[in-house]
Amino acid sequence: LSQENQNILDASEWVAKLYHHVLRYTKNGEDGYHYLRERGITDETIRTFQLGFAPNVKDFTAEFLAKKGFHQQHLAKAGLISVNDDNTLVDNFQGRVIFPIRNHLGKTIAFGGRTLFEQDPKYLNSPQNDLFHKGKILYNFDLAKKQIRKQAEAVLFEGYMDVIAAHQAGVENAVATLGTSLTESQARLLRRYVDTVVICYDADAAGTDAAYKASETLRKAGCHVKIANLTENMDPDDYITEYGAESFRQNVIASSMTFTSFYMQYLKRDFNLSVESDRIQYIENVLKHLATIDSAVEREYYLKEVSEAYSVSMDSLLNEIQANREKMG
Ligand code: UTP
Ligand code: MN
Ligand code: MN
Ligand code: MN
Ligand code: MN
Repeated sequence: LSQENQNILDASEWVAKLYHHVLRYTKNGEDGYHYLRERGITDETIRTFQLGFAPNVKDFTAEFLAKKGFHQQHLAKAGLISVNDDNTLVDNFQGRVIFPIRNHLGKTIAFGGRTLFEQDPKYLNSPQNDLFHKGKILYNFDLAKKQIRKQAEAVLFEGYMDVIAAHQAGVENAVATLGTSLTESQARLLRRYVDTVVICYDADAAGTDAAYKASETLRKAGCHVKIANLTENMDPDDYITEYGAESFRQNVIASSMTFTSFYMQYLKRDFNLSVESDRIQYIENVLKHLATIDSAVEREYYLKEVSEAYSVSMDSLLNEIQANREKMG
């Protein structure tokens, strides 16, 4: 590790502690603390995730770190402060609830900060640098990996608050991408630990598209994919707030659907199923996917569903799928 990177790591560690202290024990942090408590986050969870608050004071962080002997340029590189044209320093995360981002060894390498005041962006993240590559990190992987191994399953979320709410609800094998699509590198990382990944993204149009894309990436990496059964237009954190931990575990996570069920549903978006020619195309697309399933029992299970839903005989479906499989070689 270069001296500069070591300094950035040290500064990040200090800042995480500082912001956490501010949130828990000082007047400056009250807004952040009350915000989290109002969202149902307990003191224990605040401690587990070392959540913090960056006070609404322009040079709070810079002053503190200068006293500790850290250099401006390292703090700027870590994205904690900016140097203005007139050479004054300003805290980038001012007035935001802080989510320290740790690497897989548990070292704090970056921060996410949520505004309490509808500022844009809603979440500010540290800039990428030698230590922090968004596409290589999974939020909370360091804490989750024990449970991921133990349960032979990981649950993948979109964001900070989903992971934290899930963890608090007893789903401790929870990780998240940070507002970007899942990369091959993240998929490979998960695959090293588990066979099965449950995707629990926001149940809106964007989240569903992202879930489909993440499925493809995970399947290519050799993971078995399931999709959580979330109520439409909710995100996991909303669901837990509304229906509670027990229901989240039972009706969302344990009731996840197979990738195939999800895909058969997802594909419907591209077709107008009240039009006959569309319906036929839809069925043919479903069959193309079903042909890739190796288990004959599993194939027949879904074929039966198609057969019943669209009144097509099992015989012709089986013939078509056989043809598809032969084409695949
Ligand atoms: P969402 O917009 O779904 O936010 O973005 P959220 O996690 O539900 O947050 P709350 O409940 O409003 O507090 C999902 C994730 O995308 C990233 C964050 O990691 C966020 O958790 N994101 C979102 C950003 O990085 N920047 C943004 O401005 C918004
Ligand atoms: Mn108070
Ligand atoms: Mn969303
Ligand atoms: Mn969300
Ligand atoms: Mn949310």
